[in-house]
Amino acid sequence: MSNTDRKYDLVVWGSTGVAGRLVAEHLTEQYTPDHLSLALGGRNETRLEELEAALVERRSAWNDIPIVIGDATDPESLHAVAESTRVVCTTVGPYTTYGTPLVEACIAAGTDYCDLTGEINWVREMIDRYHDAAVEADTRIVHSCGFDSIPADLATLLVQSFARDEFGTSCDLVRIYLEDGRGGVSGGTMDSLVTLFQAANTDPVARQTLRNPYSLAPKGERDGIDPGTQSVPKTDPLRSEWTAPSPMAVVNERVVRRSNALLGYPWGREFECTEVIPTGDGLSGLAGASAVSAGLGIATAVMSFGPTREGLRRLVFPDPGEGPTREEIENGYFTLRVLGRGTATDGPFVVESEISADRDPGYGATAKLISEAAMCLVRDETDSPLTGGLLTPASGIGTPLADRLRQAGLAVDVGEWNEQSV
Ligand SMILES: NC(=O)c1ccc[n+]([C@@H]2O[C@H](COP(=O)([O-])OP(=O)(O)OC[C@H]3O[C@@H](n4cnc5c(N)ncnc54)[C@H](OP(=O)(O)O)[C@@H]3O)[C@@H](O)[C@H]2O)c1
Repeated sequence: MSNTDRKYDLVVWGSTGVAGRLVAEHLTEQYTPDHLSLALGGRNETRLEELEAALVERRSAWNDIPIVIGDATDPESLHAVAESTRVVCTTVGPYTTYGTPLVEACIAAGTDYCDLTGEINWVREMIDRYHDAAVEADTRIVHSCGFDSIPADLATLLVQSFARDEFGTSCDLVRIYLEDGRGGVSGGTMDSLVTLFQAANTDPVARQTLRNPYSLAPKGERDGIDPGTQSVPKTDPLRSEWTAPSPMAVVNERVVRRSNALLGYPWGREFECTEVIPTGDGLSGLAGASAVSAGLGIATAVMSFGPTREGLRRLVFPDPGEGPTREEIENGYFTLRVLGRGTATDGPFVVESEISADRDPGYGATAKLISEAAMCLVRDETDSPLTGGLLTPASGIGTPLADRLRQAGLAVDVGEWNEQSV
């Protein structure tokens, strides 16, 4: 069956979960059945029917939404899901536990795919096992379409495109600043984090993936000059203030480096990118950066030690299916800024891109991010030369995603850096 003859445009796989439900809500709010043939996918028919009834009640444009049943542990059911639709958007995690058979099924069916994974050990495994097959099948498997890593990856792409257009060259240094944010976490996210730390304890490839800054680059290209994630307080090379390590750097920086590699190194082989949390200047800036660094170090140590990790999972973390309240989601927000420094014929320049949202980053904003990434795949709105492979948001979709995100209510800006704006 050709991809255009499918019954559905898009299946939201895992739509009964915390993130999946928000994705289904966003899509039914933003689009109508005239524009989108949508289906809700999952394993539990009763819960899916309850969700469908709630969505139809809230959105008058939708009379009924088809339901697709399957199970992540039943590959045959996943093949049926993949064959029914042009695109699968999956929020079923931990991906290390549940994700692989769906990637296989989508490549076999030629169905484009996007997910929310931040489990880079699993992404590395998928790259090594399936990238060539996905290229061969001309199928886009786009990982990390949530808060990690669309804002960092897309803002870097926007900075680099602006630099090329306005200054005729790309930026050799990119700094990603997690400026501000408020939000909660879900049981599914904590379960995925536990799975990542477990893998780092037991699997040497997972450990190597977390250590090597280039671990998500294509095979044979996994080294370079970038020293990788910052681990201690440092002064910033572009802004006169202190910075602390960012917890998302380990994922976002690798995704951005993979984008550069997959696109054929348009930003150069010497390209460096680092994600940080800015904490201000002077002694208070240093104190803030030291506190964040220490907190992150303690959290990493606690999660790396099996008994404390297991204790937290059982006694402290929310259970899968539990997440932030609607109020927490609606009162959340984030701002992420990327600065890129390059050198044109008439001297150095700095380009800035900023992406922000008035929803909590991990759920309210993430639902918009992955939904609009999926819509770009459904509508084939990409400016990437790549039409198949294990891709990143920048290399699998590209700048058209910025327009869709603006239409969905996010602020996405790019321009020459005005130091006063920080
Ligand atoms: N990148 C980001 O920024 C970002 C943000 C948020 C979340 N995430 C990731 O997204 C994932 C989901 O998070 P969440 O909080 O939404 O988790 P969740 O609430 O636990 O939802 C998980 C979903 O998976 C379904 N599921 C579980 N086992 C299944 C199976 N065997 N077959 C089919 N479906 C199955 C669940 O179905 P039932 O309802 O039937 O149990 C539920 O719909 C996690 O990996 C998390 O780390 C990433």
